[in-house]
Amino acid sequence: VLGDVVAVVSAAGRGLRLSEATPKAFVQLAGKTLLRRTVDALSAVGDVGLIVLVVPQEMLAQVTAEFGDGALAVSGGVERTHSVRLGMHAALGVVPDAKYVLVHDAARVLTPPQLVRDVVAALRGGAEAVVPVLPLVDTIKTVDANGMVTGTPDRSSLRAVQTPQGFRVEVLRRAHAAELVATDDAGLVESMGVAVHTVLGDPMAFKITTPLDLRLAQTLLERP
Ligand code: CTP
Ligand code: MG
Repeated sequence: VLGDVVAVVSAAGRGLRLSEATPKAFVQLAGKTLLRRTVDALSAVGDVGLIVLVVPQEMLAQVTAEFGDGALAVSGGVERTHSVRLGMHAALGVVPDAKYVLVHDAARVLTPPQLVRDVVAALRGGAEAVVPVLPLVDTIKTVDANGMVTGTPDRSSLRAVQTPQGFRVEVLRRAHAAELVATDDAGLVESMGVAVHTVLGDPMAFKITTPLDLRLAQTLLERP
């Protein structure tokens, strides 16, 4: 069924680690903003009925004018969790009978449409929550407050998590009703005891976080 999927794009962060003059989602990358690139990529996935853009309050008027009917813009909150919560409520206000919600970082501009389809397919297959994951390339250490190594977790059971993360609407709604904060939405869902499925992520879905990531994205767009 087309249009039973809504997407919330979290784009309300400042981008402190990128240290550009504008908030990260509004930084230009090869002639388009990160936000525009992410919206275009999501729109290329036929399944997504409504896209909600959660943006910094001072960008709201500009984004509303720019995207018009293509997306609904709302202003975000202090933490990413708050932004997602606000976006989810806005999305369900417009499409109250949506079955599935995708939560996606604006900063993952090169996310292949196929990854989005894989997440949606897992939801349609019955998963209540789905996250794309990749094996880690580096060995991970735990350290104490003094920077001394306290352990080396078994890398084979660790995964790096990407977005889009997908949820049955009721599951994400319940997760956010608890008013908790987590670095990702699946974290909230896990703490409710709901099984979170994984699909294989894609290296191209990397998050633009640092200036090096921006240069990588530039290079990939110039020479795919
Ligand atoms: N985000 C958001 N609302 C916040 C914080 C973050 O919508 N209050 C969004 C960002 O815009 C980004 C995504 O969540 O698309 C992932 O967050 P991150 O990469 O940490 O972006 P920023 O928080 O903007 O960057 P930084 O942490 O370096 O300041
Ligand atoms: Mg952040």
